[in-house]
Amino acid sequence: MTWEELELSCGMCKKCALYETRTKPVFGVGNREADVMLIGEGPGEREDLTGEPFVGRGGKLLDDMLEIIGLSRSSNVYIANIVKCRPPSNRDPLNTEQSACIDWLRRQFALVKPKIVVCLGRIAAGRVITEEFKITRDHGKWYEKNGVWFTALFHPAALLRDPNRRPETFGDLKEIERKIREVCPATYAPAAE
Ligand code: URA
Repeated sequence: MTWEELELSCGMCKKCALYETRTKPVFGVGNREADVMLIGEGPGEREDLTGEPFVGRGGKLLDDMLEIIGLSRSSNVYIANIVKCRPPSNRDPLNTEQSACIDWLRRQFALVKPKIVVCLGRIAAGRVITEEFKITRDHGKWYEKNGVWFTALFHPAALLRDPNRRPETFGDLKEIERKIREVCPATYAPAAE
């Protein structure tokens, strides 16, 4: 399936009840050939209206976090969510909704073929890395599966609520930069003329 086919069928998805209340499904953005993939939880209000992940205050913070380590959503990462449609009132996506939606993410992962995956927050880490994941305990740790390196950061919304987490997150970001330079240094290579 091509990217275009995938995005089109995702846009028509009715596999769970979230389609009934969505404005726009939020498929993903960024460089589809990036070696680094970021995975969030699911769209909030602004994302539902615009169809783009991580807009608004959390999105601005995410962009700032990426900039600290020389990344940007338009050039060297791809960003997607566990669920593509907004859970009403921004509640956590239900397990049944996550399970209904996860195949879209699997297909995105199969097309991007990232070398490093950064989960944003406990929902993404619990679904993508391990059910046992505890974000306060396990953020910044590396997990290797089939040659792909996975880690997790506090969710930008959590960092907005609790700025005390920011120094730890800065350390995690620098560690991600180190890992990128080790595993996929081309992420930082200037684009060919
Ligand atoms: N939070 C997420 O996890 N994803 C988004 O796209 C927006 C907010």
